[in-house]
Amino acid sequence: MSEKNCIIVTGATRGLGYNFCKFISKLNWDIILIDISKNAFKVYNENKKLSDLKKNLQNNNRLKFFYGDLSKEKNVKKIFSDIKKSKMVPTGLVNFAGGDIKGDDKLAKGGKAKNNNLFINTKDYKNIYERNYYSTLFTCREFIKISKKKKLGKIVNVSSISGTYGSVNEFAYSSAKSNIIYLTRSFANYAKDFNINVNCIAPCGTTSARFLKTIKKRGKKDLLRLGKKNLNGFASPEDISKVVYFLLSDLSNFVSGQVIRIDGGETTSPF
Ligand SMILES: NC(=O)c1ccc[n+]([C@@H]2O[C@H](COP(=O)([O-])OP(=O)(O)OC[C@H]3O[C@@H](n4cnc5c(N)ncnc54)[C@H](O)[C@@H]3O)[C@@H](O)[C@H]2O)c1
Repeated sequence: MSEKNCIIVTGATRGLGYNFCKFISKLNWDIILIDISKNAFKVYNENKKLSDLKKNLQNNNRLKFFYGDLSKEKNVKKIFSDIKKSKMVPTGLVNFAGGDIKGDDKLAKGGKAKNNNLFINTKDYKNIYERNYYSTLFTCREFIKISKKKKLGKIVNVSSISGTYGSVNEFAYSSAKSNIIYLTRSFANYAKDFNINVNCIAPCGTTSARFLKTIKKRGKKDLLRLGKKNLNGFASPEDISKVVYFLLSDLSNFVSGQVIRIDGGETTSPF
């Protein structure tokens, strides 16, 4: 991409988003961090204070923080207008905001819905769907609007392997994540004329702080897998960061509209 990368990362202050920010901060890339609120970073004890988090991301790069619930279009528009005012010029967007999380709390720590299957109550369904799908839709739209004129930009959306097959459990999450795949393909077709690459990753279970904290509630199969190494284990946050880096870097300049599963070969059927 350009000489100085400046990446907008959503869901940036914890989990996979935060790990990705650490990864690119070492490359001195500027980072625009967006999250639901100022305290969302504390939920899984990855940092005690915001100053610690900042220290971990500060190198010879610029950092700028914005907050808001991205499932609401007006918040996304306001944040992108504030980004414009900040004079930081984004070259990429990575959409980590999301998760199989119900509820409207400002920490996005709602946990899974009670009936997390086809019979999930409609309020929880909408909440999970909006948190994942609409946040991605709204940020992609705003990013493309500001990048169109420059004819330069890279977007990486975050789906899940749950979005690549018919999932009985995690039904709302799986619906939202599968639509992120089709959103990616449509946006890639549209953004081609503006030299903007739009791709998507679909990770399997990945050992983010949230995942490790909640793994005890999962089945025996997952607990056994946790102890396994290499392709038989879970992905690590670094496994995810490396692929996202590839999709933002010059290495993937001719790649667009693609979905890369990061699952060690767990699922190999086409989708
Ligand atoms: N960890 C995994 O096993 C795994 C696997 C596949 C996909 N993913 C996806 O990766 C992403 C990160 O997951 P994680 O494991 O790091 O979990 P996490 O809960 O730590 O991270 C989710 C991030 O999204 C933010 N967020 C949630 N709702 C938001 C909203 N409405 N507006 C703005 N920000 C919001 C949270 O505050 C948090 O920063 C999610 O999209 C998740 O679906 C994770």
